[in-house]
Amino acid sequence: MAGVLQCNSNDPQQQSDKDMKTLKNNTSPSSPTSIQTTTSAMLTGTSLKDTLTSDPQTWYNSSLVSVTQITSSGLKLLFDTSVQMRSLVKQNGGGDDRFRNKILASVFYEASTRTSCSFQCAMMRLGGKVIHVDGNGNTSASKKGESLSDTIQCLQCYTDVTVLRHGTTGTITDIVENGRLSKPVLNAGDGIGEHPTQALLDLFTIVDEISFTANDEPLVITLLGDLKHGRTVHSLAKLLVRAQSYLKRPLVLRYCSPPSLVMPQHVQEYVANFSSSTTDVKQEEYTSGTEESVKKAMTKAHVLYVTRVQKERFDKEQDYAAVKGTYKINAEIMSHAPSKMIVMHPLPRVDEIHTEVDSDPRAVYFKQMENGMYVRMAILALVLGNSSS
Ligand code: NCD
Repeated sequence: MAGVLQCNSNDPQQQSDKDMKTLKNNTSPSSPTSIQTTTSAMLTGTSLKDTLTSDPQTWYNSSLVSVTQITSSGLKLLFDTSVQMRSLVKQNGGGDDRFRNKILASVFYEASTRTSCSFQCAMMRLGGKVIHVDGNGNTSASKKGESLSDTIQCLQCYTDVTVLRHGTTGTITDIVENGRLSKPVLNAGDGIGEHPTQALLDLFTIVDEISFTANDEPLVITLLGDLKHGRTVHSLAKLLVRAQSYLKRPLVLRYCSPPSLVMPQHVQEYVANFSSSTTDVKQEEYTSGTEESVKKAMTKAHVLYVTRVQKERFDKEQDYAAVKGTYKINAEIMSHAPSKMIVMHPLPRVDEIHTEVDSDPRAVYFKQMENGMYVRMAILALVLGNSSS
């Protein structure tokens, strides 16, 4: 209809690129909310596999809802771009203005400091602008009963890319696959499902920090804490096994948690099924919930990735009370850890890492946060088609 303004992209080039890698899949199930009945395929949809490669065109205008979209060569492209972003910020004391006419919609239905602020700064470092919507705030249309899909579709009329966090597992996959969206949506955490951009910055940090290990020795990574509800560890375990041909070495994944907070079966199955041979990836569980089990799980580990017990995910206060404070990484425990290893945490921490560990050279969690901005600058540059300055 001539003269009618449309929200969808009218740029033919942009439209054909979008068609080429459309994420729609009308046969996918509606959003699951319970982890007990959840499988990896349900969480990540069926069309969200291996779509993001070393070809920048595959990233352009594409949403990112799961780490299962990224191939090994896609990781290389992303990490090379992240290194360029780091140099840009460090050398110029800022970025550049390649996003000067671009606007990011930052839409959060759950609390966030690091993810929302690092995305906002990533956008601004490259000359872009940001609008922020507190999904639970008084100005949110969800208060009037609007669907998430409608809210995002409207915001896409004004902006170029959306960063979205939501409390219901699978919701973001659902609107990307089934909604009528025209612009990229980046999953900033969906309930206890995935947190792909966090896993990417975590892996970037691991790759950046582990030069002390011999190239052919298996990489030993211990994931500690609330592995049941922690979306960061779900994404990281899946990403690590997918990254094997990028890392070019065997992997040992150790899951250390209290018995009630073990790594979900669907994640363990994903890891087992993805690895081409059982010698390439080993999964080990340490679930006694004691300090001794932490010390065992840290033996010869290269990475200790600590997570918070996710208070907000428990139905009953007494279930949380039973496990809170189970693990506390302090200077005494660190004296039993290998001298060459790194300690990571997605933050925020409550009391699972004592502040006395912060001055330990093995503690890299604040560096990890800084890397988050570079990796998110690279993701934005790739999906907005501005990866070379
Ligand atoms: C994590 C999250 O929100 O999943 N934080 C983050 O994004 N940096 C971890 C957490 O909340 O414990």
